[in-house]
Amino acid sequence: PRRTDLAGRRIVITAGGTREPLDPVRFLGNRSSGKQGVALAEAARSRGAEVTLIGANLEVAHPERCDVVAVSTTLELRDAVRAAAATADVVIMAAAVADYRPAEVRDSKITKEEQGDELTLRLVKNPDILAELASERPAGQTIIGFAAETEPDDALLVERGRAKLARKGADFLVVNRVGWHEGFATDENSIVVLAEGGHVVTEGNGDKLSVANRILDVIV
Ligand code: C5P
Repeated sequence: PRRTDLAGRRIVITAGGTREPLDPVRFLGNRSSGKQGVALAEAARSRGAEVTLIGANLEVAHPERCDVVAVSTTLELRDAVRAAAATADVVIMAAAVADYRPAEVRDSKITKEEQGDELTLRLVKNPDILAELASERPAGQTIIGFAAETEPDDALLVERGRAKLARKGADFLVVNRVGWHEGFATDENSIVVLAEGGHVVTEGNGDKLSVANRILDVIV
C-alpha cells in the first residue's frame, strides 16, 4: 500500500538553508544541506505524490521527477512557497529559514579600510513563513513545520517543540536535534513528531530516507 498512498496528492516541500546577502560577495547563512528535505521529496514522489521542491541553496543533487524551484533568500523562499502552496494538499517546511536578515545590503564590498577593527551588523526580523502559511491556508491543507533545536535535554526539547507548534499553528512539528556534529549536513537524523495539542505521534532515528517515510506515514 505504501507504494501509492500519496497518489494524486500535491505536496510542496522546502529544503536547504536560506542565505541573506550583506554585500555582493558575502552572506549570512546556516549549515543546512537540504538532505532531509530532498529525502522527503524523493519519498513522497515514490509514494505517488506530485512534488514541488523549493530548494534554498541545496548542497545535494535534485530529486528526480519533482518540480524544483531554486531560491536563495528568505524573501525569495516566501514568494515561491506561497505561490506553490495555493494549490497544495500538504506543505512541509523542512528548510532552515534565517530568522533575521541584514537591515541594509551594500552595493559594494564592505572593506576593512572603511570599518577598522570592529564591524557591527544591524539585522531585521524576517517574516515567519510557516506561521503565515498556517494562518492563510486553504481548507483541508495539512502543514508540517520543522524545529531544529540544540537543547540537550530530551524533555526540554519536546517542551520547546510544543510551544513552537502552538505558536506557529501548524498541524505537525518535526523536532530534530542539531549541533556541531548532528542534524545538519549529516546522513542520519533523529526526530520527534508532535501533533496539534502537543502529543508525540512518532519518534525515532535512521537515515534521512527512512525518517522521511516515517514523517509521510504520519501525514497519510
Ligand atoms: O522558529 P523556528 O525557526 O525554530 O521555526 C522553524 C520552522 O519554521 C521551520 O519549519 C522553518 O522552515 C520555519 N520558519 C519559517 N520562517 C522563518 C523561520 C522559520 O517559515 N522566518
